[in-house]
Amino acid sequence: MAKEKVYIFDTTLRDGEQVPGCKLDTKSKLSIAERLDEMGVDIIEAGFPVSSPGDFKSVVEISKLVKNAQVCGLTRAVKKDIDIAADSLKNAKYPRIHTGIGTSEYHIKHKFNSTEEKILERATSAVKYAKTKVNDIEFYAEDAGRTGNDFLAKICEEVIKVGATVLNIPDTTGYCLPDEYGEKIKYLKENVKGINKAIISCHCHNDLGLATANSISGVSSGARQIECTINGIGERAGNTSLEEVVMILRQHPSLKLQTSIKSKYLYSTSLMVSELMGIIVQPNKAVIGSNAFAHSSGIHQDGVIKNRETYEIIDPKDVGVDKSSIILTARSGRAALAYRAKNIGFELDKIQLDKVYNEFLKLADAKKEIYDDDIQKIVKAANIK
Ligand code: KIV
Ligand code: ZN
Repeated sequence: MAKEKVYIFDTTLRDGEQVPGCKLDTKSKLSIAERLDEMGVDIIEAGFPVSSPGDFKSVVEISKLVKNAQVCGLTRAVKKDIDIAADSLKNAKYPRIHTGIGTSEYHIKHKFNSTEEKILERATSAVKYAKTKVNDIEFYAEDAGRTGNDFLAKICEEVIKVGATVLNIPDTTGYCLPDEYGEKIKYLKENVKGINKAIISCHCHNDLGLATANSISGVSSGARQIECTINGIGERAGNTSLEEVVMILRQHPSLKLQTSIKSKYLYSTSLMVSELMGIIVQPNKAVIGSNAFAHSSGIHQDGVIKNRETYEIIDPKDVGVDKSSIILTARSGRAALAYRAKNIGFELDKIQLDKVYNEFLKLADAKKEIYDDDIQKIVKAANIK
């Protein structure tokens, strides 16, 4: 059976940029947008145009620059927001307006002091109005993760009737469990009339570390778009990480799903966003962290030297990393030392290796990590040429 496509909606420049203290200027946003386009992202959420003149300008410039991807602007279910978003997207080849409103009891009662009927009316009016501006309208039901399935299905059905093309089901607070989120998507697939006219989108936050698992559960249950950010950045604990979902779908053919992302751009794009935003990526971050392909214990090093796949499920080249690294520490064994020595031109026989290894351990106990120049010094001190 052929693989079905999952659209990748990148919101690094909107939800991702909501990280406190990480405001990007227009120039940086343009560099990121250009890279996302090159990498094969399907939809770039370029900003929230009504929020500030700077954000408006960024969406205008990104709309002019981007060649392949759709460019999207966020709005509340408010006419003025929609007017400004439509204006900012004027030059986009494929514009999308992303409008919506909170649908959970928390939002309806506490944020809006409103009722389900009134929220339904605001949602449909916003979609109807946005539809007079552009053809592609994504509707978000904010806090869908904590919204009862009956009301969620009702609002989805009504916005489809007035022209919504994509239904975003955000787990805004990162509360759902993967099965629960997947069940929600399945419920919508089975209970919303006209659901086949729209794409269901997963937008998961990472408050419990479940954003990636929830997004995968969502697409396994029938959603066909994932909203994510580079390095998983975003409000609080962040959003779904783009590199994780892309590589999960790629490494698991049994899911029969694929994206259009050119994965060899993942590592360099992660570095670019980290540098421009000034946010360090944790070393053990899946797929693109600095330790993702580094092996430091003796047993693992021996296995990887014999066959990379013993301890690696991704070929580092597939994500744009040159090669796996063998880190020399006091926990490394002879195989790793011999391997690294060979890389810098020293083929050690067994006796030489024993001699050098003892010196290596002494130094490794004193230092955290042993580098090539350390090996060179140890080997030369042992009179090995
Ligand atoms: O998390 C969320 O609910 C959002 C919406 C505004 C789409 O970011
Ligand atoms: Zn969000």
